[in-house]
Amino acid sequence: MIYFDNAATSWPKPPGVMQAMTYYMESVGANPGRSGHRLSVEAGRIVYEAREAVAKLLNAGDPLRIVFGHNATEALNLALQGFLRPGDHVVTSSMEHNSVMRPLRALQSHGVELTVVSCSVEGFLDPADLEAAIRPNTCMIILNHASNVVGTLLPIAEAGTIARKHGLLLLVDAAQTAGAFPIDVISDRIDLLAFTGHKALGGPMGTGGLHISERVALSRLRPLKRGGTGSRSEREEQPDFLPDVYESGTANAVGLAGLAAGVRWVLERGVDAIRAHEMSLARQLVEGLQEVPGVVLYGSKDAARQTATVSFNIAGMEPSEVGLRLDEEYAIMCRVGLHCAPAAHKTIGTFPRGTVRFGLGHFNDDDEVGDAIRAVGEIAETV
Ligand SMILES: Cc1ncc(COP(=O)(O)O)c(C=O)c1O
Repeated sequence: MIYFDNAATSWPKPPGVMQAMTYYMESVGANPGRSGHRLSVEAGRIVYEAREAVAKLLNAGDPLRIVFGHNATEALNLALQGFLRPGDHVVTSSMEHNSVMRPLRALQSHGVELTVVSCSVEGFLDPADLEAAIRPNTCMIILNHASNVVGTLLPIAEAGTIARKHGLLLLVDAAQTAGAFPIDVISDRIDLLAFTGHKALGGPMGTGGLHISERVALSRLRPLKRGGTGSRSEREEQPDFLPDVYESGTANAVGLAGLAAGVRWVLERGVDAIRAHEMSLARQLVEGLQEVPGVVLYGSKDAARQTATVSFNIAGMEPSEVGLRLDEEYAIMCRVGLHCAPAAHKTIGTFPRGTVRFGLGHFNDDDEVGDAIRAVGEIAETV
């Protein structure tokens, strides 16, 4: 079996992840940050270690600025719904996932002004177009780091420079890159960064979060939910300090135990080494698919300018049929359709049919890529 659906969720998980979760369930079990007994203290330690690991990976400094939640979607909703007010203007790109687009469209119906800057058919964003969209009431730029459809990298560092120049915040959706591509929230001038735990960070589902930099005024960023935090229990008002202000309710501590192990594995292996491996796989896949008669490839077609996520179609065949045959005849798992990103598919010209997406990950290898190229070739011959 070949698992090429890492852009949806990574699998298998790095060594140590399951063991960390099992340790939590068998030997810790308690609620972190709630009680004073040794098991609760141990649970709190494990959650803090997860914060430390993510902060180290992102060069974020203070681990308390890492706010955990269930996934990138929740983190993006916190940043967008929490920060934006009627009359604000924001700029985003036409390559965004619905986790950005849907909250923004909903906020638009409540008076937030939105400009969606068009990207090229390959999925590239021209920073000059981004800057040209800025208005006097613009307060935030929102960009994904890499497209979940074609893997194309967006110009985050340039966007950070533009945001600082105009006094705006930069919110980055790093769902596709955290753990797979180097990220430095300081040098890239990222003010808010949403990450998910279950993709390249190697953690389980139900983990993710938001890094909140010192440039973000907490008094303006409203929590999505309020409730028990284990801190300041004498008060009926929400605490106003990080991370508790945004982390009400019992944490997914077993999930965070797994996430900590996943991120530690990424740190040990090194993001640069992971990126080099995935770039080499992406290059092999792009070059191989380009040679297959009948295959239409989308995106940059340049492994250095994208992640290891590659989208294609076979002329004359529905993506759903290709996906089904890859699964049934070759045991290759991929994802077909619109990938929760209709705007991106409109940009690359594949809406509403979508594409076949191969999402390669840390644990794929050259042989699997070769087998998949041959499988696509055999299916294409039957058109
Ligand atoms: C670019 C992008 N943003 C956001 C998300 C949402 O991530 P999560 O599943 O963690 O909510 C995804 C998931 O596929 C994604 O690819």
